[in-house]
Amino acid sequence: MFRLKTFISLFVVLSALITAEDPCRFEHTKGTIDLSSLGRIDGTPAYPDEYPPTGSNYLYSYNPCKPFSEGATCNNVAVCQISKDKQFTFILGKQDSAEWNPGSGLGTIPSITYTYDGKQASIQLMCATDETNQLDVLGEGPINFYKFRLINKCACWDGCKGVPPQQNCTINGTVYTSDKQIIQSFPFSVSINPLQPLPSPPKFSYATVDTNRRVINLTLVNIPSIPPGLFCLSNLQELSIFDSPTVAIPSEIDRLSASLQSLTMSQVSRSAPLPAELYNLSRLSTLSIVNCGLEALSEDVGRLSSLNQLTLDENLLVSLPWSLNKLPSLTTLSINNNSRLSSLDVLAGSISLNTLRASNCIINHIPNNIPNLRTIELNNNQLTSLDGLETITSVNSTLFSLNNNRITSISSVALSKIIRLEHLYLSNNLLTTLPDSIYSIQGLKAIYIQENKFNAKELEWIQGVFRLTNTTVVI
Ligand SMILES: *[C@@H]1O[C@H](CO)[C@@H](O)[C@H](O)[C@H]1NC(C)=O
Ligand SMILES: *[C@@H]1O[C@H](CO)[C@@H](O)[C@H](O)[C@H]1NC(C)=O
Ligand SMILES: *[C@@H]1O[C@H](CO)[C@@H](O)[C@H](O)[C@H]1NC(C)=O
Ligand SMILES: *[C@@H]1O[C@H](CO)[C@@H](O)[C@H](O)[C@H]1NC(C)=O
Ligand SMILES: *[C@@H]1O[C@H](CO)[C@@H](O)[C@H](O)[C@H]1NC(C)=O
Ligand SMILES: *[C@@H]1O[C@H](CO)[C@@H](O)[C@H](O)[C@H]1NC(C)=O
Ligand SMILES: *[C@@H]1O[C@H](CO)[C@@H](O)[C@H](O)[C@H]1NC(C)=O
Repeated sequence: MFRLKTFISLFVVLSALITAEDPCRFEHTKGTIDLSSLGRIDGTPAYPDEYPPTGSNYLYSYNPCKPFSEGATCNNVAVCQISKDKQFTFILGKQDSAEWNPGSGLGTIPSITYTYDGKQASIQLMCATDETNQLDVLGEGPINFYKFRLINKCACWDGCKGVPPQQNCTINGTVYTSDKQIIQSFPFSVSINPLQPLPSPPKFSYATVDTNRRVINLTLVNIPSIPPGLFCLSNLQELSIFDSPTVAIPSEIDRLSASLQSLTMSQVSRSAPLPAELYNLSRLSTLSIVNCGLEALSEDVGRLSSLNQLTLDENLLVSLPWSLNKLPSLTTLSINNNSRLSSLDVLAGSISLNTLRASNCIINHIPNNIPNLRTIELNNNQLTSLDGLETITSVNSTLFSLNNNRITSISSVALSKIIRLEHLYLSNNLLTTLPDSIYSIQGLKAIYIQENKFNAKELEWIQGVFRLTNTTVVI
């Protein structure tokens, strides 16, 4: 009797030990965490050679769900430690040692822990509400205990529990049940996931469909109008419309606001104005309105708070909206070929902007106070001096291009803020001399000064002095 009882309790303990937890999926009263879609299945890690934030002699690789191998020692592991010179690898955990912890109470987050030979790697699972996919190495402490943080939507309870069924969507009286039905309802042909590379600019319409059969990106070329069903594509991230002058953008565009990140219109909507709802697309990071006959851009553009890149090339803009300098994430502004645009003064105060392209306009003076510009392209304008350049140049810059203007002289002050610059284009101006400060710029790879008014002695001086810094002088 006594023996049997011992045997039974021993059996219970043993079976608890050998019932390994599923390294891919964790079901709990709080919901399900499923990491299957994050792990690579080809034997390489989804998060390879990640650095801790502070100095360390080791890197770390992790693959959720499925084993991977790296270096001589990490064979079929979940977590691997790699020496900085990549000579040595150490196993921190194998998939079959996975143990889940749902996190207790408020404020603690779930985690998955792997163990191997006295070492332990614990991955905190931090729920992301956006597309973030990142592994942070938090470090070792105490010794042999390694901490990581995985940030992904699959780290959320029920974040990646299979594909949720698609909702029906009604627009103008028609009910759409799937992205497939929407795309097939279009009155023109659309290639699905065409082979790369694709011509640029695109020559035909195509859609990018993901493994869940959702249309995520759509490019339309030469269409008469936008089929209404398009506004039911609830996962659409990128929409591009080319060479479709009769297309007008309807107010329904804001039905895409939950997903749309990039909108490109080229030769579109030449007669109809852009709808106010365009500025409801709060997740938009890229907006391009090219060759659309645009005479003014609404101040409402200031509501696109995620906007990172704005392209307004080949329009008829006379001025720019003041709200541009308030956009907190705007880094790149391109307004080439607006042949009525004479001033960029509204950009004063923009601290995020680092790239400004405004060639082929009629800009007649350098704007003020855009303190972080690294690339400036103002070719073919009506500049007569570079006065004020010191208020728009950053310390480290890449390229300033000021060809084809009427610049007669450059003051030393204008270049005083530049420490580094790689390329400086000044051809086809009216320069007779260059300021001394130009020779102090570090890292200058090439300067282009052909078609100016330099005399032979000045050219000899310029070429000779730049020989000291190995700067290519194009004359
Ligand atoms: C979606 O629409 C289809 C066809 O109209 C219908 O059969 C189905 O019940 C609808 N589904 C939902 C969830 O409303
Ligand atoms: C829906 O129908 C109305 C009336 O015919 C039309 O004005 C509107 O543009 C349509 N919406 C879309 C997205 O096509
Ligand atoms: C789809 O669009 C998004 C957002 O613009 C972009 O980041 C991504 O690279 C595109 N994917 C493909 C396959 O083109
Ligand atoms: C969308 O834009 C329209 C017109 O500007 C505005 O009236 C409406 O309140 C906006 N909706 C949202 C959700 O911001
Ligand atoms: C932009 O303007 C320049 C100079 O006027 C012209 O040569 C060029 O073709 C224009 N570019 C486009 C894309 O229209
Ligand atoms: C400028 O660039 C140099 C070399 O790339 C770098 O060492 C320096 O930290 C940079 N300075 C600033 C202010 O970005
Ligand atoms: C210029 O190039 C020569 C030969 O490559 C090299 O010895 C010299 O250090 C370089 N000078 C500078 C300032 O980079």
